[in-house]
Amino acid sequence: MFNNNPIGMLDTGVGGLTVLKEALKQLPNETFYYLGDTERCPYGPRPVKQIKEFTWDMVNYLVDKGVKMIVIACNTATAVALEDIRKELTIPVVGVIYPGARAAIKSTKNNRVGVIGTIGTINSEQYELAINTKSLKTDVFGLACPKFVPVVESMEYHSPIAKKVVHNTLKPLKEKNVDTLVLGCTHYPLLREFIQSEMGEDVILIDSGAETVSDVSMLLDYYNISAEPTNETRTHQFYMTGSKRMFEEILNDWLTVEKYGIHRVSITK
Ligand code: SIN
Repeated sequence: MFNNNPIGMLDTGVGGLTVLKEALKQLPNETFYYLGDTERCPYGPRPVKQIKEFTWDMVNYLVDKGVKMIVIACNTATAVALEDIRKELTIPVVGVIYPGARAAIKSTKNNRVGVIGTIGTINSEQYELAINTKSLKTDVFGLACPKFVPVVESMEYHSPIAKKVVHNTLKPLKEKNVDTLVLGCTHYPLLREFIQSEMGEDVILIDSGAETVSDVSMLLDYYNISAEPTNETRTHQFYMTGSKRMFEEILNDWLTVEKYGIHRVSITK
């Protein structure tokens, strides 16, 4: 049995496009509906109750569009809302934290793993929980990087400003002797080059979002809901609550999507 309904992917802004990039590579038969709440981004510094409310707005919007699965391509929303959403929905819901945590355990040799993320993600301690549930011998060092998301959303991620922000922010982590660093925010792969050069070439960077796509692929098989194979290019849809122009510029800088629709929408009822 095939299911040609789209997969819904959500993020607070453009960060989830780093997950979509991997998804388009691994799952070319699927159609994706991507929603970025760019108008209200960042979520990271917001209170937990508000992050939950906003995440539900995004989820409900995509569910109303008839998606067959939800991918929460955002660490903050995953940390705070994944469990609630899974309990309520009848379709599969995938988050980005457990796949990233599993990849970090697999990668580390000295059992010292760094995690960088938003204030919301780091305060939730969900990465520590996910890693230590499987491996108590792994020490986890979390660091909140609140300036990274605004740098990406303002399209400064190639600039010397980004390099300086990364340099200043990561200083405390460099003393921890980690051999693996989880990019615990889907915006951070856009800063990957600066992060790698700051931490040193020997430190393995884990892209939590990219790791998640393997889970999505596995769940499509498990629930028997993969799309029918086709040689035709699928038309993907992008929805955002803020500026369409800025979103489209980052989309085209980061990804190659042949056929797509792009829409500025309101997601509050
Ligand atoms: C943010 O909106 O603060 C970024 C969310 C995330 O990817 O963790």
